[in-house]
Amino acid sequence: MTDLEQVRSFWSENPLWTGESDYAAGSKEFFEEHRNVYIHDCFAGEFDLRFLPPPRSNGQNMRVLDLGCGIGFWTAEFAMRGLSHVVAADLTPAALENTQKRLNTYGIDADLREENAERLSFPDASFDHVNCQGVIHHTPDTEQAVAEISRILKPGGTASISVYYRNPILKLWPYIRWIGYPLAAIGGGLKGRGRENIFLEKDVNEIVRLYDGDKNPLGKCYSRGEFAAMLEKHFDVKETYLHFFPARALPFKIPHCLHKWLDGHIGFMVYASVVKPCVE
Ligand SMILES: C[S@@+](CC[C@H](N)C(=O)[O-])C[C@H]1O[C@@H](n2cnc3c(N)ncnc32)[C@H](O)[C@@H]1O
Repeated sequence: MTDLEQVRSFWSENPLWTGESDYAAGSKEFFEEHRNVYIHDCFAGEFDLRFLPPPRSNGQNMRVLDLGCGIGFWTAEFAMRGLSHVVAADLTPAALENTQKRLNTYGIDADLREENAERLSFPDASFDHVNCQGVIHHTPDTEQAVAEISRILKPGGTASISVYYRNPILKLWPYIRWIGYPLAAIGGGLKGRGRENIFLEKDVNEIVRLYDGDKNPLGKCYSRGEFAAMLEKHFDVKETYLHFFPARALPFKIPHCLHKWLDGHIGFMVYASVVKPCVE
């Protein structure tokens, strides 16, 4: 079984977007390219407003935790959109260093904390909103991380959480994986992090693990029902929705309308907007 030290070691040596970019990690160009790829390539050009914390009576002073902040994409988006009490937390100092450089690049601010999502050091009921995108499927005890998010949220607090989604492509892969051969032959695949041959992989679980790099120790994917069932133990699930279709892996350009449709209907991640009940 994968332990947390293997997870920490992988993400310390391979922070998000390193190995994919030609720009120096931590440079302005590196962060701008990452934002561009995130929004234009993975989200088909749309920053979905459902990712923002719902408005509160304490307005922009609400306390927001960006849990598993990676290289600071969400932290920077929140700070640039006027939220003044954002805490960015990650398992690795490497992620926090990158996040700090990103914040410095844009002259914005957040509190940075080294934290393990499975055992957060924050007191109960200390945040209004938690943002946790693409993190809990990398930690060994995913259910414990969900319980911790609930613990540190105030009653009535909200969270936006996402994991890899077992979409129809992954479900059908054993029957359709032959399409991977021509796609790979004409240049399909993902650049860097040892993922060039991702289209040739037979095992669906391996594809999910490989997405973040060939040395990634852990990546899990969920059906919508499995994800909702895990969250419903602690939250009211208001909505689940899909995004994340990294079109750059294809060896040809696809029309924007098709990319948009794929993003919303067979995206590779499932997102949930949840509320912590006032009485558990
Ligand atoms: C795929 S990146 C996602 C980064 C960011 N949330 C985003 O959407 O750009 C996963 C991040 O989760 C962090 N992570 C993995 N397990 C964690 C844990 N148990 N506690 C905190 N962070 C964790 C990794 O260090 C890595 O930075």
